[in-house]
Amino acid sequence: MTLLEGSVGVEDLVLLEPLEQESLIRNLQLRYEKKEIYTYIGNVLVSVNPYQPLPIYDLEFVAKYRDYSFYELKPHIYALASMAYQSLRDQDRDQCILITGESGAGKTEASKLVMSYVAAVCGKGEQVNSVKEQLLQSNPVLEAFGNAKTIRNNNSSRFGKYMDIEFDFKGSPLGGVITNYLLEKSRVVKQLEGERNFHIFYQLLMGADAELLKALKLERDPGGYAYLNPDTSRVDGMDDDANFKVLQSAMTVIGFSEEEIRQVLEVAALVLKLGNVELVNEFQANGVPASGIRDGRGVQEIGELVGLNSVELERALCSRTVETAREKVVTALTVTQAQYARDALAKNIYSRLFNWLVNRINESIKRGLATCAEGWSSDGSFPPLQVGTGEKRKVMGVLDIYGFEILEDNSFEQFVINYCNEKLQQVFIEMTLKEEQEEYKREGIPWVKVDYFDNGIICNLIEHNRQGILAMLDEECLRPGVVSDSTFLAKLNQLFSKHSHYESKVTQNAQHQYDHSMGLSCFRICHYAGKVTYNVNSFIDKNNDLLFRDLSQAMWKARHPLLRSLFPEGDPKQASLKRPPTAGAQFKSSVTTLMKNLYSKNPSYIRCIKPNEHQQRGHFSFELVSVQARYLGLLENVRVRRAGYAYRQAYGSFLERYRLLSRSTWPRWNGGDQEGVEKVLGELSMSSEELAFGKTKIFIKSPKTLFYLEEQRRLRLQQLATLIQKTYRGWRCRTHYQLMRKSQIVISSWFRGNMQKKRYGKMKASALLIQAFVRGWKARKNYRKYFRSGAALILSNFIYKSMVQRFLLGLKNDLPSPSILDKKWPSAPYKCFSTANHELQRLFHQWKCKKFRDQLSPKQVEVLREKLCASELFKGKKASYAQSVPTPFHGDYVGLQRNPKLQKLKGGAEGPILMAETVMKVNRGNGKTSSRIFLLTKGHVIITDTKNPQAKTAIPLSSLAGVSVTSFQDGLFSLHLSEISSVGAKGDFLLVSEHVIELLTKIYRATLDATQTRLPVTVTEEFAVKSKEGSLTVKVAQGPGGGGTGKLSCKKKGSRCLEVTVQ
Ligand SMILES: Nc1ncnc2c1ncn2[C@@H]1O[C@H](COP(=O)(O)OP(=O)(O)OP(=O)(O)O)[C@@H](O)[C@H]1O
Ligand SMILES: [Mg+2]
Repeated sequence: MTLLEGSVGVEDLVLLEPLEQESLIRNLQLRYEKKEIYTYIGNVLVSVNPYQPLPIYDLEFVAKYRDYSFYELKPHIYALASMAYQSLRDQDRDQCILITGESGAGKTEASKLVMSYVAAVCGKGEQVNSVKEQLLQSNPVLEAFGNAKTIRNNNSSRFGKYMDIEFDFKGSPLGGVITNYLLEKSRVVKQLEGERNFHIFYQLLMGADAELLKALKLERDPGGYAYLNPDTSRVDGMDDDANFKVLQSAMTVIGFSEEEIRQVLEVAALVLKLGNVELVNEFQANGVPASGIRDGRGVQEIGELVGLNSVELERALCSRTVETAREKVVTALTVTQAQYARDALAKNIYSRLFNWLVNRINESIKRGLATCAEGWSSDGSFPPLQVGTGEKRKVMGVLDIYGFEILEDNSFEQFVINYCNEKLQQVFIEMTLKEEQEEYKREGIPWVKVDYFDNGIICNLIEHNRQGILAMLDEECLRPGVVSDSTFLAKLNQLFSKHSHYESKVTQNAQHQYDHSMGLSCFRICHYAGKVTYNVNSFIDKNNDLLFRDLSQAMWKARHPLLRSLFPEGDPKQASLKRPPTAGAQFKSSVTTLMKNLYSKNPSYIRCIKPNEHQQRGHFSFELVSVQARYLGLLENVRVRRAGYAYRQAYGSFLERYRLLSRSTWPRWNGGDQEGVEKVLGELSMSSEELAFGKTKIFIKSPKTLFYLEEQRRLRLQQLATLIQKTYRGWRCRTHYQLMRKSQIVISSWFRGNMQKKRYGKMKASALLIQAFVRGWKARKNYRKYFRSGAALILSNFIYKSMVQRFLLGLKNDLPSPSILDKKWPSAPYKCFSTANHELQRLFHQWKCKKFRDQLSPKQVEVLREKLCASELFKGKKASYAQSVPTPFHGDYVGLQRNPKLQKLKGGAEGPILMAETVMKVNRGNGKTSSRIFLLTKGHVIITDTKNPQAKTAIPLSSLAGVSVTSFQDGLFSLHLSEISSVGAKGDFLLVSEHVIELLTKIYRATLDATQTRLPVTVTEEFAVKSKEGSLTVKVAQGPGGGGTGKLSCKKKGSRCLEVTVQ
């Protein structure tokens, strides 16, 4: 239903309002300007040649039109082809597509589009594809031999073509049959200015390689051939060279053998060469004019090319044998006659070659058809092939035939062409009306009488068997006596003087009409498409279409198999004196066959229109199109279509389209389709005259009603669109909201879940903590009950051990220096370790000491022992002790080495002197001091006078009873002797030594060694010194200086007391 929607103008002229010639053309023009070249008249397609490639034929379009029905998409040739193909495949109806129009209107292109569409949508498969390919490839071959450049069309088909394509029950192509009509053979020998001969000649000259040209005895320059118009050997946009290659490959695809191709080209070359055979005047011996050939070389070459005796050919061209039942007479031809004969031969060879080609193609593409074995007609054309009848096959015919022609000078060709068109119009009207009538009958609607022009009368005027123009022409041709075109015209004038569709000067004169446009040798026929004036000149000749028997016999004698086969009547055995049928009769019979064929099929029409005379894109000539529209009877066509009811449609689809107009059918309708349609139209209060309800379709009288319905639909659609929009928007917002809500729920559920999980985790941790506490508490309780003491011990032991361990290991890693003088020791980390730490310190110290001791020499040991002894005796007791500690005990302070006297004093066996010092002896009596030498040996203490060493006192150590010493800084000491000793009589000694500590230590040690007894060493400030005079109390006190110098001053206090002051 796109034809009602957003269309440019109206897409179906049936809906045109107002319906007039002008509005019709304007509508076509409007559409053409918008590149809408197709328009419908019902199911008739009007196509205006765009003269430019349009992007509407690709596979996408094929698929679209395959999938939609006729009115669902824009008008298109594919829609028509699709409808025909579907009807053929699905309803088993044979189809024919009639394409008509002027030269250059696009018929051939349309037929190719139909074929390519059908090829694209019908079945697939290797075999099917090869059939398709053969069918499609027949076009380039037929176009090469049958098309030529004319003033009106660069690729004008100079023959009519009807092609039956056969399909099997599945709709796959099986093959086809091509029938050709009336090739314009006059073009072979002569072309109008600006036109060309058939394409093949130029393709051959341009495309053949040098070798082939040589073999064909041709030269490349088209200017060298008399039959080729020298002005126009090239056509813009046409590549003859490339097209020759296309032709060769197409012939190969169709199945021509190489030999066949070569022979075809040889025959074409023969035609070209024949044109160059120049004829000259000659005279026979008796002076009768005759003709001859100027240059024998051309004939010679022809002879060589096709295997022909050149003498015989020359004879055939220049003379004629007239044969009657009784005798044979040979007459010489004049130059004009000979030229006529030569041209007739060329035309005949070419047209027969063309027929042969069509037949050869048919042989390749037909499948299971009855072979055409009925022999050849005189001009070599074939009786039309019939589709085979064996298996049930379906047929689609495509007719691409010349349209109605009105030229300046209309001759026999235009006459037969227009006759054919008249017949086609008859088919069209009859079938359209029949179809209409049948539809009305089917639908149970009373038939309304339609006024239309019935062209039967014109057809009759031309084709009537006895009294038709063609019959008259034949009669004139066969009649003995003087026959000419004017006698023929006179006959027509006489016979049709009263005929309403026949005019001539004579009939006009009779009616006192004055018409300049009508010549004396003309007659006029009022065709359905307009009046056409025909000039009768050469009607007889063209109808006779005679070829002298000498020529056909000469051709038959050629050794060239193809040429020979083109002239079967040249065979003397077949020779008959019977005249071949005239061209007019042949044409009439083939048209009759065609009509019969068309009547048996379901027709579809494509009416092609040429928009301008200049083959120019985008230019639309109103006048030119008006003329064509009239010839094509487009207005008539629309009127017939609209006669009763302009528009009809099946209830189902009508309801589908308009049910939105009624509340009862929209949005849902459960009743029947017709009921629904009645409801819709009832609600719109349509006039009952406007409508008719058929059995399956609704009929609408005028387009106005349909447009009203459309307008209502448009308004309703707007409302519905708003409603849909509203609903959609609501739905969109709702779904959006729901989606958001859903998302929000998901998010919050995740969030809550997460929160609860965290809370739970915390609670769990807390519970575990509490649990642990409770358990701990319980455990502790139980522990207290059962394990407390032991566990504490173990634990504390463990802790203690670990602490100890840590402490000891720390100590180990951080031991102070091993020097004994270094007293550093780390403090204990815990109080409890302080004892151990002290002990460790002590041990470490002892260890250091031991280490130190171990390394000492025996002498050092001895010195230290002495020091130790001194320490035991005096440390903390005597003030001078501290000074003595760092001072080494030399023992010898008098220089014994240097004093041999003193050495002798010691008395031999007692070993070395342990101590030798100069001491001061305090006189007990007065307290004065005098120096003495004090020596100590192992057994004795020897005190000698410094000046007289002999005056000595030796005191055995065993006699010593003790020693007293002060606690001060001084060196005073007293040696107490035992009373029993001999020296004891002398009394105790009171001596002052500077090395009192060393001296007393050595005495102590020597005594110990000698007597094994410890000599009592008394530190006191008051001691008694015994002598025989009695005992003297020595009181020692410190002077005011604190006794720091150690110097003594002794003062006798009475007889029994000696006061010593330490300074
Ligand atoms: N549908 C189309 N799209 C594009 N160009 C087209 C179309 N139809 C026709 N033509 C152009 O118009 C030219 C003439 O078309 P075509 O040969 O089909 O005319 P015709 O009606 O067969 O003429 P004739 O009667 O002389 O054979 C084509 O060569 C092509 O250039
Ligand atoms: Mg054509």
